[in-house]
Amino acid sequence: MTVEISIGSLQLLFLCILAAVPANGQLQTGFISIDCGGPVNFKYVDQDTGISYESDGAYTDTGTNRNISSDYAYPNNPNLPQPLSDLRSFPQGNKNCYTLRPAAGNASLYLIRASFFYANYDGLNDLPQFDLYLDAHLWLTVKFSNVSDVVTSETVSFASSEAIYVCLVNIGAGVPFISALELRPLNSSTYDSEYGKSASLLLFQRLNVGSTNGSGRYPDDIYDRIWAPYVSPSWEAINTPLAVNTNENGYKAPPEVIQTAARPRNASEPLELHWTSSNATDQFFVYLYFAEVEQLQRNISRKFNISWNGSPISGPFSSRYLNAATISNSKALVGGEHRIMIYKTADSALPPILNAVEIYKARLLDESLTNSEDVNALLSVKTTYQIKKNWAGDPCGPKKYPWEGLACNYSSLIPPQVIYLNLSSSTLNGAIAAAFAKLLSLESLDLSNNGLTGPVPDFLEELKNLKYLNLRGNNLSGAVPKALLETSNAGLLTLSVDEQNLCGSASCKRKKRIIIPVVSSLLSVMALCIALVVLWQLRRKWKSGTGSPNEGGRYLASEKRHFTYPEVVSMTNNFQTVIGKGGFGDVYLGIMSEGIQVAVKMLSASSSQGLREFRTEAELLMRIHHRNLSSFIG
Ligand SMILES: *[C@@H]1O[C@H](CO)[C@@H](O)[C@H](O)[C@H]1NC(C)=O
Ligand SMILES: *[C@@H]1O[C@H](CO)[C@@H](O)[C@H](O)[C@H]1NC(C)=O
Ligand SMILES: *[C@@H]1O[C@H](CO)[C@@H](O)[C@H](O)[C@H]1NC(C)=O
Ligand SMILES: *[C@@H]1O[C@H](CO)[C@@H](O)[C@H](O)[C@H]1NC(C)=O
Ligand SMILES: *[C@@H]1O[C@H](CO)[C@@H](O)[C@H](O)[C@H]1NC(C)=O
Ligand SMILES: *[C@@H]1O[C@H](CO)[C@@H](O)[C@H](O)[C@H]1NC(C)=O
Ligand SMILES: *[C@@H]1O[C@H](CO)[C@@H](O)[C@H](O)[C@H]1NC(C)=O
Ligand SMILES: *[C@@H]1O[C@H](CO)[C@@H](O)[C@H](O)[C@H]1NC(C)=O
Ligand SMILES: *[C@@H]1O[C@H](CO)[C@@H](O)[C@H](O)[C@H]1NC(C)=O
Ligand SMILES: *[C@@H]1O[C@H](CO)[C@@H](O)[C@H](O)[C@H]1NC(C)=O
Ligand SMILES: *[C@@H]1O[C@H](CO)[C@@H](O)[C@H](O)[C@H]1NC(C)=O
Ligand SMILES: *[C@@H]1O[C@H](CO)[C@@H](O)[C@H](O)[C@H]1NC(C)=O
Repeated sequence: MTVEISIGSLQLLFLCILAAVPANGQLQTGFISIDCGGPVNFKYVDQDTGISYESDGAYTDTGTNRNISSDYAYPNNPNLPQPLSDLRSFPQGNKNCYTLRPAAGNASLYLIRASFFYANYDGLNDLPQFDLYLDAHLWLTVKFSNVSDVVTSETVSFASSEAIYVCLVNIGAGVPFISALELRPLNSSTYDSEYGKSASLLLFQRLNVGSTNGSGRYPDDIYDRIWAPYVSPSWEAINTPLAVNTNENGYKAPPEVIQTAARPRNASEPLELHWTSSNATDQFFVYLYFAEVEQLQRNISRKFNISWNGSPISGPFSSRYLNAATISNSKALVGGEHRIMIYKTADSALPPILNAVEIYKARLLDESLTNSEDVNALLSVKTTYQIKKNWAGDPCGPKKYPWEGLACNYSSLIPPQVIYLNLSSSTLNGAIAAAFAKLLSLESLDLSNNGLTGPVPDFLEELKNLKYLNLRGNNLSGAVPKALLETSNAGLLTLSVDEQNLCGSASCKRKKRIIIPVVSSLLSVMALCIALVVLWQLRRKWKSGTGSPNEGGRYLASEKRHFTYPEVVSMTNNFQTVIGKGGFGDVYLGIMSEGIQVAVKMLSASSSQGLREFRTEAELLMRIHHRNLSSFIG
């Protein structure tokens, strides 16, 4: 008395679908039913199941819609479920994803079902093979036996964040595609395993024991599980027409499924379920459903024990009349050969019974999703700049397929963090987004060769781990924030910026960071000071000539030179160009009547340092002369 189930054929036919269609596909609370590849904004109620499907535009932004070949479509294939008549294929990019945001949010339990029907949609008659991932974990390698093979796979999994990513990965064996994607919320206290939330379950078999005609599905099954009819030749099917209570636990198997059952033909034999797995490390969890369907006399009992490969799992157990119960193994069943026996106890008058069974393979979740702050920051960057890269699914996961231009730190203790972001030559326009500063673990940021404008923002200073920053080839204005310059000067940051961002002027040469101030107090409230940048033209002269920089400095310095406020206004073109910011306030670009470029430093009223300090600094500068310091003019 054996059920032979061979692993490896995870394909179940899209076993449709019997139950009466509800008047209007309602009550599908929390269901997400996607007909992949359907026309834009298309919605319909599937005639066979009563389930409302929608096209996939809201869930993915890549791929192309395709229809299956007419040879396999309606009316040539009258039993084809409507969701399988079209598909979305992903010729571009190695990872493409659907993002599902279920209403119940993170930490809730879901059943997710993906279906694939190739049906020669591309006219190539060449069966593709590709990988399917759930979040950062390999779910399945999708393989087809033939052109008309329908591959359907189901997983039961806790959501580890608000979003669930279902990703198709091109492994170089054909273009990935998907036909239908369905998500059903489950009661989170069901399908428990010893691994809790750190494993997901992959459906291996789900059998409606004792049924001969068709399977239960929505609306009979509120979770829309698909039950395959099954009776072993050595079993005898029994059933009851009476209503069965299936509300005793969260599993809520459909009454139609529980009303049918089987017992061994030879009453002294056990019921036996046998399956094999090609990988001896595979771990299984089995959920057995029992309800008494025969009305027994009081002095007659049906009692049984359950064992796996000879070791007891559970028992003795008596099924209750017209009341469903679920029994599962608490420890994973590990091995290549699996034999579950349900056998009557010595004091049982009747043979055992079985109403339904689900067998799942556990998949341990060893990769976690990217740190959620980083995810939010990257999503914000993606929308701000309308990034055209194939940025799909989780940024860092799976480890093998992070987003393009991104690298992460996968330390085992905390979720992966983004440490490297390269958006060089990515046609970014507009200001530098504040979201960049939310990537707190970032060590390297390359934004070179884009059309970025606006200032080099202060918030970049919040990236405390930054070791490399490239802003070259943009049209940014203003100088690099002081803190970044300081880190760079201290050798902790490799800073690459356009010249105008170093000193505020397009014509100043790189590495001549020179702005040293001079004071001249003016007006009662405000002190103005002019410091001088030595002209690069002059410097050139010094270099070619025999004069020392100091001589040049002295020549310019005419130390006690005084400037009136209107002269300063004119020199700076009414303080038009800010080239930097120091402890005392803003520094402006000025051009003296002789054509000499100068830096004009103004003591701001809001400066933390006062006029006295400002004067002190100026007086100090008056006395110091060095070739690497700009000369003080007045
Ligand atoms: C698929 O077929 C439907 C109906 O025949 C048609 O409206 C739709 O445009 C087709 N889609 C593609 C991508 O060819
Ligand atoms: C295609 O493969 C499936 C699954 O292996 C099988 O059930 C079906 O009979 C095959 N169909 C044809 C036409 O070979
Ligand atoms: C999950 O939700 C809880 C409460 O809503 C929240 O505190 C937690 O940060 C969320 N986790 C993730 C990974 O989104
Ligand atoms: C088979 O289907 C018929 C009607 O379609 C129903 O009356 C009968 O109860 C079903 N039998 C089982 C065992 O489910
Ligand atoms: C889930 O099932 C448990 C156990 O039967 C039950 O107590 C709980 O109310 C159910 N939760 C929901 C949301 O239905
Ligand atoms: C029923 O099973 C028992 C124990 O395996 C065996 O001895 C007996 O011959 C079987 N009866 C029939 C009718 O096969
Ligand atoms: C068996 O499964 C384990 C874990 O999933 C995997 O590491 C191993 O490579 C598999 N072995 C074979 C022979 O497929
Ligand atoms: C059960 O009780 C009935 C009468 O109430 C009796 O005829 C029958 O023999 C009893 N069966 C057993 C197994 O004791
Ligand atoms: C059934 O299991 C119980 C313990 O769970 C054990 O005491 C009993 O002997 C078992 N019965 C049989 C027939 O194996
Ligand atoms: C990765 O993160 C760990 C833990 O925070 C840290 O110790 C390590 O230095 C990081 N590695 C890199 C390359 O940033
Ligand atoms: C960023 O990518 C470009 C090519 O797209 C490459 O030239 C550059 O070196 C990369 N930057 C870093 C910091 O790796
Ligand atoms: C840079 O910006 C200025 C004004 O902000 C504009 O005139 C100039 O054309 C821009 N240059 C480039 C290369 O975009």
